[in-house]
Amino acid sequence: MERTFVMVKPDGVGRSLVGECLRRFERRGLKLVALKMQQLSVDQAHKHYGEHKGKPFFEELVAFITSGPVVQLVLEGRDAVAQVRKMNGATNCLDAAGGTIRGDLGLSNQNNLVHASDSLETAAREIALYFSEDEIVVYALPCAAWLK
Ligand code: CMP
Repeated sequence: MERTFVMVKPDGVGRSLVGECLRRFERRGLKLVALKMQQLSVDQAHKHYGEHKGKPFFEELVAFITSGPVVQLVLEGRDAVAQVRKMNGATNCLDAAGGTIRGDLGLSNQNNLVHASDSLETAAREIALYFSEDEIVVYALPCAAWLK
C-alpha cells in the first residue's frame, strides 16, 4: 500500500470544502491515517514549495499558502499517489476535467484548493515535514476486504 500527502489549501478551508475533499477520498477507498489543521509559517511554505523558488509565482504562492489555515491528510491505499493526483485534476482549475476536485470546484491556477504529492519520494518528504511517525495511525478498516 502507498501513502500520500494531501493538503487542503486556505481557499479550500475558507470555502468550507474540507469535508467535500475528504468525502471524495474516503468514498474512493483511500484510508485516512493522519489529519492535522494548522496555519503554515513562511519558513514551512519555503520548505514545502522549495522546488518552485525563483519561479515568477513563488512569492505570491507563499503569501497564499500562509494566508489562512490548511488541513493536512495522510492517505493510504493502492497506487495512492497517482490516484489522488488524478482525483485532484490539472493544476490550473480551468484546465481540470469535470469529476476532479479542481474541475468541479475551482476556477483558479494558484488557488487550486488541494495539493498532493507527485511521487512516492515527494510523499515521504512531505509527510515527514508535517507529521511525526507516531502521528500516523495504524489500524484496519473493516471494509478493506472489499478493496482488494
Ligand atoms: P500545487 O499542486 O500545490 O503545486 C505548486 C503550486 O503552485 C500549485 O499547486 C499552484 O497553487 C501554484 N502554481 C503553479 N503554477 C502556477 C502559476 N503559473 N501561477 C500561479 N500559481 C501557480
